[in-house]
Amino acid sequence: MAQPTFAAIDIGSTKICTVVAELTSANEVRILGVGVGPSQGITRGMVDNIHAAMEAISSSVQRAERAAGVRILSAHVGFTGPHVSSMSSRGIVAISDPRQPIAESDMDRALESARIVNIPNNREVVHVVPRYYVVDGQDHVTNAIGMFGSRLDMETHVVTAGSSAVQNILRCVEGAGVQVDSLIVGPLAAAEAAAEREELQHGAVLVDIGGGATDIAVFVRGTLVHTAVLPVGGEQMTGDLVVALRVPQPAAEQAKIAHGHALASLVDEGETVEIDAFGAEGRKEIPKRFVAQVLQARCEELLEMVRAEVRRGAQTELLAAGAVLTGGGASVRGLDLLAEEVLELPARIGRPRHLAGLSDLLNDPAYSTSVGLLRWALREQEIMLRPAPRARRGVGALFRKVAQLMRVVLPQ
Ligand SMILES: Nc1ncnc2c1ncn2[C@@H]1O[C@H](COP(=O)(O)OP(=O)(O)OP(=O)(O)O)[C@@H](O)[C@H]1O
Ligand SMILES: [Mg+2]
Repeated sequence: MAQPTFAAIDIGSTKICTVVAELTSANEVRILGVGVGPSQGITRGMVDNIHAAMEAISSSVQRAERAAGVRILSAHVGFTGPHVSSMSSRGIVAISDPRQPIAESDMDRALESARIVNIPNNREVVHVVPRYYVVDGQDHVTNAIGMFGSRLDMETHVVTAGSSAVQNILRCVEGAGVQVDSLIVGPLAAAEAAAEREELQHGAVLVDIGGGATDIAVFVRGTLVHTAVLPVGGEQMTGDLVVALRVPQPAAEQAKIAHGHALASLVDEGETVEIDAFGAEGRKEIPKRFVAQVLQARCEELLEMVRAEVRRGAQTELLAAGAVLTGGGASVRGLDLLAEEVLELPARIGRPRHLAGLSDLLNDPAYSTSVGLLRWALREQEIMLRPAPRARRGVGALFRKVAQLMRVVLPQ
């Protein structure tokens, strides 16, 4: 029998990445094709030009189709943006017959009840992620199915997003000829791919530094406690270099990637680099340490904003595993060292792991979200096949759809 095949599209501010994968019999994700193209019409994770965004998505999808030799009919879609926010919600239900063990239907009712949150009309609930249960006052139950009790409380983490931002993303993907199986917010997807289960268990924060946004997900005892998106990323680092060095954007971008460092003190004082400049000069020589000083200032500011969000989610003592930095922006040299100083936590750079097939194409922190979307989709699939509690489920008419993995792609 053919292995289940499925697709994911990560809609970023810098790039759009479509990945087609199959689940092997050994339960491994095997990458069959990748299509990466520059992002258009997306700023800070949000659509600001529907037609341009639709074309960029379509071109990324076509590349992935060619690479994998399949037609993508539907996909799991990742998005981000500062309109994403989170809150806690507790669903409470009475068990009608306490002589019967708690069943999946009771969990479903608790989940539905947790979903009822007080949010403005212009916002949508995107995820309701169960954290733990309380059965008749017994706290921190990890799986209530089969237990006895007369009252079931489900503590959840609810992620919400701006309705119009969500609608715009949907419109773009559907306009590109692809049905949306589920919408997944960036930070949750990135955590799936870049962080180890053990790190999340001991408490960790996932920081995905993209082009226009930085996604944050805080985990305590293996469960999600806080999600946030900051409107700052690698584009702002490059923008600072344009202004400080007075050079065109492509030259600034190249200087950042080739010579950038987040800790200026680690860069030799005498070293210089020659780059394209504005004006009559044509090219000019710039001390590498100056490039690093400009980047350090921006990175420090970004990490301070991250620290404030992390503190909103959990006390530092609960985050023993520290920070996992990922996304293209995490490739700035020395960022992990600076993050350890500013966040006062251990920090490492995270990239997608445990992949087979064309995995070398995705072996970069910039692809954590793309790979995480696949893992998230698999988890949904697992939930569909297993008669166990629905550990995670998207809500709202759209988010309720679970992938019919076999119908996602067709041989070309
Ligand atoms: N080696 C590198 N050193 C420094 N910065 C890098 C490097 N490689 C990529 N970047 C930066 O990473 C950013 C893009 O990251 P990424 O691909 O994760 O963004 P995205 O997913 O498209 O955007 P977002 O998640 O914000 O919507 C760009 O600003 C780019 O300059
Ligand atoms: Mg991204």
